[in-house]
Amino acid sequence: MDGSVQARAATATALVEDSLRGLRGTPKVLSPKWLYDPRGSALFEQITTLPEYYLTRSEAAILSAHADRLAGLVPEGGALVEFGSGASVKTRTLLDAGGHFGAYVPIDISEDFLQQTAQGLRAAYPGMQIAPVVADFSEAVTLPEGLADAPKVGFFPGSTIGNLPPETATALLAHARAWPGAQGFILGVDLVKDRGELVAAYDDSQGVTAQFIGNILQRLNSEAGADFELTQFAYRARWNAAAARIDMELVSTCHQSVALDGETIDFAPGEPIHVSASRKYTRESLSALVAPAGWQLAELLFDEAERFAMAVLSPG
Ligand code: SAH
Ligand code: AVI
Repeated sequence: MDGSVQARAATATALVEDSLRGLRGTPKVLSPKWLYDPRGSALFEQITTLPEYYLTRSEAAILSAHADRLAGLVPEGGALVEFGSGASVKTRTLLDAGGHFGAYVPIDISEDFLQQTAQGLRAAYPGMQIAPVVADFSEAVTLPEGLADAPKVGFFPGSTIGNLPPETATALLAHARAWPGAQGFILGVDLVKDRGELVAAYDDSQGVTAQFIGNILQRLNSEAGADFELTQFAYRARWNAAAARIDMELVSTCHQSVALDGETIDFAPGEPIHVSASRKYTRESLSALVAPAGWQLAELLFDEAERFAMAVLSPG
């Protein structure tokens, strides 16, 4: 077996083991990290252009308005290290303003998409080292060897931190705080707002979000030999006010049984699988998130309508 075949086999095994663990429990859960295969990554890019999904536009506006200052947080020859970089579209605003960067390190779990993106970036920024890392950021990420001691700034845009359980989010931030040469961290977060606006962003009229979330079942079918009948699961997005988060679920529309890796998973009518949560923040909850990881909220930048915020964190 060559390296990439081996890596794919390991991913399929992890997908099956993690999913079976989540589907055996009550309530049933799947991890959102499995949403991002090539089709999932492409569907997410489509979400970023939807009229209801204000997050990407709001964050892009903040980045454009403050590009020079944010890029200036990275010292001459230092590295910008991004978590969950995806297509690195918004990041280009910082790279355009960061002619002095020595390196850009995009970290993502969606391997093919990441490598393809890195190719495009190498062509666009020939003077900058583009050093992609395929990794699961819910575990400690090992940075490229040559950059271990370089001065660096973490970048986690998109409010992807809101998809992580609080303890995982804190561990990620603490890990970045402990990097040798850590200078700061730029964190994008979505803000608590009107329930209607939030639900619309996660239940769009074209049904792209439903396809994106449903892709996890399609992936289990194609990569793990499961037999989910996709038409028998309905997508649901609900605002959970007590936890300040949108919960995204796939709800079984009937009594049914699904086979996965030799096990049978039974579903009652109306029984949900929780696939993803998208946490929304206030200034207070954001400070409480970053402080235990050793970061201080130095500045909070907003878009004009104050839908989204970009936090500049300094070593606390
Ligand atoms: N930063 C981009 C993309 C956000 S989508 C933006 O703001 O538009 C979330 C990204 O995080 C995807 O590219 C997905 O592949 C990646 N991702 C999700 N869970 C991950 C994990 N556990 N480890 C590493 N990358 C992950
Ligand atoms: C990647 N992440 C920040 C998105 C969000 O808004 O929580 C994922 C997403 N899920 C459904 N729509 C978008």
